Amino acid sequence: GGDAGAGGDSGGGDGDLISVGFSQVGAESGWRAANTKSIQDTLTEENGFDLSFSDAQQKQENQIQAIRSYIAQGVDVIAFSPVVESGWDAVLEEAKAADIPVVLTDRSVDSQDETLYESFIGSDFVLEGETAGKWVVDNLGSEPLNVVELQGTTGAAPAVDRKAGFESAIEGNPNIKIIASQTGNFTRTEGRQVMEGFLQANPDIDLVYAHNDDMGLGAIEAIEAAGLQPGVDIKIVTIDAVKDGMQALVDGKINYIVECNPLLGPDLADIIKDVVAGNPVEKRIVVEDKAFDQAAAAEALPTREY
Ligand code: AHR
Repeated sequence: GGDAGAGGDSGGGDGDLISVGFSQVGAESGWRAANTKSIQDTLTEENGFDLSFSDAQQKQENQIQAIRSYIAQGVDVIAFSPVVESGWDAVLEEAKAADIPVVLTDRSVDSQDETLYESFIGSDFVLEGETAGKWVVDNLGSEPLNVVELQGTTGAAPAVDRKAGFESAIEGNPNIKIIASQTGNFTRTEGRQVMEGFLQANPDIDLVYAHNDDMGLGAIEAIEAAGLQPGVDIKIVTIDAVKDGMQALVDGKINYIVECNPLLGPDLADIIKDVVAGNPVEKRIVVEDKAFDQAAAAEALPTREY
């Protein structure tokens, strides 16, 4: 559950604050750390919020428990980033029955009933995968190319969508083949472990497509341990563009990164204020993402916020 104690429409001195229960996916990646910081730095008392924040450690049951406890506390608004897409209808119905509006951030749910939440703010993950795939086609697609894929958390929107987007971008090119694909759960450790297995089983890997920077950074460790040069012997394309990823891109160990902007706090704060004020909000707010090759990363890195 939450950790702020005084949630809900508690009386006393914080009567004007908007109480928010936020259930975060976990702390699996550099992206997630930047996202958590953005939310905690924005939903402050100074800005008019009383935030209860909980980390679900990448477990849906923990998120459902946290949301139930926010409902029991009677918070003004519940916000969360669903670890996987499916299985949310029951708890969202409970929030609706309690008249507590829900805002989705970063990842969405596959619920058919759109009245179960007010708004979803986050990136277009299919487009991110397409952008990654298009770069591979345009830059490496003229010769046979064996690709291994490090997928995000099984059932998570960014894993499902980034896989689909990449596949659709490479579809028309018979040179490009995905020869192995496995989840690395968006973490550096699992990215390294899965890449070690890929290297043992496949003597001829040309490119790693990792659904986030952290798994790509884990793959770099495995490639170097195998005596190969990441970015040269085996090319690497990832998604996120957090600082560690951008540094590896500048160092020539990664070849291309599609951004996923984690700084959702300010927009989330605005949406919550509108919802509480009864103003209409957009059902879907798409966050704009850039993309970086090695030269663009060298230019962007010095002023990178996360
Ligand atoms: O949902 C966004 C994804 O989750 C990020 O790309 C990844 O790094 C994080 O774990």
